[in-house]
Amino acid sequence: MNNELIDLIKTRRSIRSFKSDKIPQEAIAQIIDVGIYAATAMNRQSPIIISVTNKEVRDRLSKLNAEIMGVKSDPFYGAPVVLIVLADKKCPNHVYDGSLVMGNLMLAAHALGIGSCWIHRAKEEFELPEGKEILESLGIKGEYEGIGHCVLGYVDGGYPEAPARKGNWVYHID
Ligand SMILES: Cc1cc2nc3c(=O)[nH]c(=O)nc-3n(C[C@H](O)[C@H](O)[C@H](O)COP(=O)(O)O)c2cc1C
Repeated sequence: MNNELIDLIKTRRSIRSFKSDKIPQEAIAQIIDVGIYAATAMNRQSPIIISVTNKEVRDRLSKLNAEIMGVKSDPFYGAPVVLIVLADKKCPNHVYDGSLVMGNLMLAAHALGIGSCWIHRAKEEFELPEGKEILESLGIKGEYEGIGHCVLGYVDGGYPEAPARKGNWVYHID
C-alpha cells in the first residue's frame, strides 16, 4: 500500500554535504514542533531542544565537537542550523526520550525537503565548561545530558542511496 509517511521514513538519509543557504525560520519552527510531539516515557517530556542559527555559536560548537572527535574538519558538514537535543538526567528514560525527538526532527526536516544528519558527541560537549556555559546563558538549570545534534540544511550535490539492509534484522514467532 502506498503511504506518504512510510515513503518519507524510508527515503530519509543522513546528509553530509550542505549548502550554506539559510533555512526559513518558519521551517525550523515547524521541524522543532514535530520534535516536541515525540512520545516520552510516562509523558515526562524530559528533552529540551536548543536551536542554533547564530553562525558564531554554530562554529564554536563545531570546533568543540571536532576537538572531542580529534579531527580538524567540520563535523556539521557545513550545515547552517543545529538543533541540539538534551534530556533531563532525572528521568530514567531520558536517552530514549531524546533519541525519539532526534528521529522526529530528522523526519520532519525530510518532509519539508531539508537535509539532516544526527551528529553525535553532544554528551561530551555538554560535560565541558563551554557546553555548560551555553546552558547557563539560556537559564537552563538542572542536569541535562546531550543526546545529539540534528544538523539541518539544503542538500548540496546528490542524494545518498539507502545503505543495504543487513540480513538478520527480523525474527518471527508466529
Ligand atoms: C546515535 C547516532 C549517532 C550518529 N552520529 C553521527 C555522527 O557523529 N556523524 C555522522 O556523520 N553521522 C552520524 N550518524 C548517522 C549515521 O551514520 C547514519 O544514520 C547511518 O550511516 C545510516 O545512514 P542513513 O541515516 O542515511 O540511513 C549517527 C546516527 C545515530 C543514530
